[in-house]
Amino acid sequence: MARIIGGVACSHTPTIGFAHDKHGSDDPVWGPIIQAFAPVKAWLKEQRPDVAIIVYNDHVTSFFFDHYSAFALGIGERFEVADEGGGPRDLPGAAGHPALAAHIGASLVADEFDMSFFQDRSLDHGCFSPLSVLCDHADGWPFPIVPLQVGVLQTPGPSARRCWKLGQALRRAVESYPDDLRVAIIATGGLSHQVHGERSGFNNTEWDAQFLDLIVNDPVRLTEMTVAELATRGGYESAEVVMWLVMRGALSANVTPRHQAYYLPSMTGIATLVFENHATPPSAAEARLHLDHVERETRGLEALEGTYPFTLQRSVKAYRINKFLHTLVDPQARESFRADEAVAMRGAGLSDTERDMLLRRDWRALMHYGVIFFLLEKLAAVSGLSNLHVYAAMRGQTLGEFQKTRNAPGAVYSVSGREDAVAGKVPRT
Ligand code: FE2
Repeated sequence: MARIIGGVACSHTPTIGFAHDKHGSDDPVWGPIIQAFAPVKAWLKEQRPDVAIIVYNDHVTSFFFDHYSAFALGIGERFEVADEGGGPRDLPGAAGHPALAAHIGASLVADEFDMSFFQDRSLDHGCFSPLSVLCDHADGWPFPIVPLQVGVLQTPGPSARRCWKLGQALRRAVESYPDDLRVAIIATGGLSHQVHGERSGFNNTEWDAQFLDLIVNDPVRLTEMTVAELATRGGYESAEVVMWLVMRGALSANVTPRHQAYYLPSMTGIATLVFENHATPPSAAEARLHLDHVERETRGLEALEGTYPFTLQRSVKAYRINKFLHTLVDPQARESFRADEAVAMRGAGLSDTERDMLLRRDWRALMHYGVIFFLLEKLAAVSGLSNLHVYAAMRGQTLGEFQKTRNAPGAVYSVSGREDAVAGKVPRT
């Protein structure tokens, strides 16, 4: 079974990346930042985690207010470095761990955290600023990551108590994963700072010291604090330290703090902290019980013939082709597709198999492959075909045969709103 070997908490200010890229550990002003991270880096090197869960927040880079969520778990195969306005930093992208992420996602949802899930989104300084000084990366990062983005920018956001509970659920998730993985949890953010308004530049080093003491010795006290209390003591943006409680909540009561440092170079109190975790692993029976709980909602679906639940695994596997079909909601993309399907599909990087299934309008094969029905109906609309064509083809019937099974046998309809149907292609099965 997987186990959590320890937790890291650290700040994620852009100054950390700046110190790494432009200065170095010998610089009198910026060097102390890198030096503070060095023991954590050594710990990670020595402990060799197989994967790291990175609890961080995005800064309106890859997540926007058109759809903002409290807890977003990265389930994808790879996460690139974000461009935050002046081009991305010269760092490698990080591999994800879709299998572990899918298990964690299922477990957290079973524990009543209504997660959102993301893939194909780059990660900004909330993740890569500390990571760049925590690991050597000339030849790529030493471990894959599972990012967990916490929506702390828009109020209301998750409370300290909710983050703590999420951490406890995260522990149940990791400790019930069947593979023997050594998992580190890295939480980023804080400490005291405020970066907006007339109060920008606010710091409270006394509170930072107290916070560091509490996160080690009395984290439950921190879970009782409101976002307003945290903002009053540490500055408005410092309330992002609730993310540290996700990490702390995922550890057992039996931890050993290995390293702690604090430095205030500019706007934000930069802290680093490492806990070694000495959790008693769950017994095989306890882990089985939890897995039963995780599978409860979906158990039985596998027995439904001709049914393909759109799981996180399918979502990752068929992401590229689903993404391509989703572009058909855009009039220009539709025009390009109609003008030259082969060129449009090649431009989207679709594989030979994917292009072939689409060109042949092989609805059944597309469904088996992982394309969700609601994108098939968009393809049908663009192709001048009705939903009924697709239903019939998936069942291996002609349109006429399928229509005979309906109470409105002559009905044909699609999701096309206004555009005239183009010459229909004959759906093949
Ligand atoms: Fe932040």
